[in-house]
Amino acid sequence: MKQITPIEIQEIKLFSDKQVYFPREDSLLLAKQVKVFPKSKTLDLGCGTGLIGLIGAKQNAIVLCADINPNALKLTEKNAIENQLKVEVRESDLFSNIKEKFDFIYFNPPYVIEEGKRKEWIDKALDGGKNGRKVIDEFIPKIKKHLTENGKCFFLQSNLNGIKETELKLEKQLLEFEIVGREKLFFEELIVFKVWKK
Ligand SMILES: C[S@@+](CC[C@H](N)C(=O)[O-])C[C@H]1O[C@@H](n2cnc3c(N)ncnc32)[C@H](O)[C@@H]1O
Repeated sequence: MKQITPIEIQEIKLFSDKQVYFPREDSLLLAKQVKVFPKSKTLDLGCGTGLIGLIGAKQNAIVLCADINPNALKLTEKNAIENQLKVEVRESDLFSNIKEKFDFIYFNPPYVIEEGKRKEWIDKALDGGKNGRKVIDEFIPKIKKHLTENGKCFFLQSNLNGIKETELKLEKQLLEFEIVGREKLFFEELIVFKVWKK
């Protein structure tokens, strides 16, 4: 059935699409960290419906919403119009199509432990490969290059993906970090890392 009225989350009205990840507990946990300053350059990587980027745009940030899934970009544009907010949308596999540096980067990556057999766009929103780290491990070495001098990056993972492993990989990149969000669910705990340059 076609959705005719949007659902409101954190004062942002969101339309959905069956091929785009609709916000869940993980999205809401990361969204709590969106406290950006006016005109800050803010990236919502893996934007899905655009929720995170739209919260940033409401705080007057200059927002780029990027996703590998073209359906997510169309939906983000639609949701931006619905909320009378301005964001740029861009198709990109991680930073493949992004050269800029940002004051804030937000990423709620696919982190579910999957075999990678399902190939719909909606599966790619979840599929973190055999240990759930496939996308996270590609992302971590690219963070530094895309942060401004005082820039901050916030990303999410599950404790099932290995917290220590993330900490070691961040240290290897000479990045400072802190865990700023946690939420226990039925079978896992969601963790939000805040990362910045030394
Ligand atoms: C768990 S969903 C999060 C969506 C939204 N940010 C939220 O929190 O509700 C992960 C998103 O990352 C996107 N994605 C997956 N792999 C990606 C990649 N390599 N580069 C960019 N986006 C990717 C998916 O298409 C999906 O929209």
